[in-house]
Amino acid sequence: MRFLVSLVVMLTLLPVLASAGERDFRLSAPGALVESGLLKYLLPRFSLKTQIRVEVVGGDGEVMLSPEGDGVPVFSSAGATWRMRLQGDHAGAARFAEWLTSEVGQRTLTSFEVDGAQSFTLPAEEAEVEVAASYEGNAAEGLKLSSVHCGRCHVVSEANRMNAIGSTPSFFVLRTMRDWDRRFQSFFALNPHPSFTQVADVTAPFPIDRPSPIAPVEITLDDLDAILAYVNQLEPADLGAPIQHQ
Ligand code: HEC
Repeated sequence: MRFLVSLVVMLTLLPVLASAGERDFRLSAPGALVESGLLKYLLPRFSLKTQIRVEVVGGDGEVMLSPEGDGVPVFSSAGATWRMRLQGDHAGAARFAEWLTSEVGQRTLTSFEVDGAQSFTLPAEEAEVEVAASYEGNAAEGLKLSSVHCGRCHVVSEANRMNAIGSTPSFFVLRTMRDWDRRFQSFFALNPHPSFTQVADVTAPFPIDRPSPIAPVEITLDDLDAILAYVNQLEPADLGAPIQHQ
């Protein structure tokens, strides 16, 4: 009878144990991070909440934490940004990544102190992210506007490569310039555009004695934002050497 009871207990527990075991994973971290004590502080809290056990290893793991290489920035310490990378597709590792970047995880992280001082902070805002976020226009709309207005002279996409004017720099080439965005922002003031371009509420009307020599380009600042968003996500032309332009 005792045997039967324990067998029943074991059988009911087995699926739970098995599924918990499957979600256990290895976390790869350099010695310096292990010695900081952060993991000893973080991991039990994560395991308590999720029943997932984490083994800290020096070599390969399903989750890698490192201040080098790529990955999602998760915290900063002593001027270095630490990044998290997942190797393969592991449920427990994915749960940990979700937890560490959640509000609870981040609060746990920043509450870790050494000698009364906070030693890990949230990752510093990445410059790239800010730049990307500032092109708020609609890129799909930008492609249409570019094709209609700029595609008469410029190559603006693969589609109009054949019917643009060969001597005019393509958008792919312009995109390689470090200050491409400043040039696009103010293109209406840069030659040859002023003689045929009207930006609503920005440019003065064409002089009476010098009307636009061609069908004018008429756009709004919203249109220009959309064009910038479109050009921003273009693959710059591979020129092999620095571009010589003016
Ligand atoms: C009628 C032809 C024509 C049209 C239409 C035209 N462009 Fe241009 N664009 C040119 C030419 C030609 C140049 C090269 C000027 C030079 O550098 O000599 C140029 C250059 C530029 C440059 C680089 C300017 C610089 O000096 O750095 C930008 C940016 C630009 N165009 C954006 C646009 C945008 C955006 C549109 C559409 C809204 C547009 N262009 C429409 C002819 C045109």
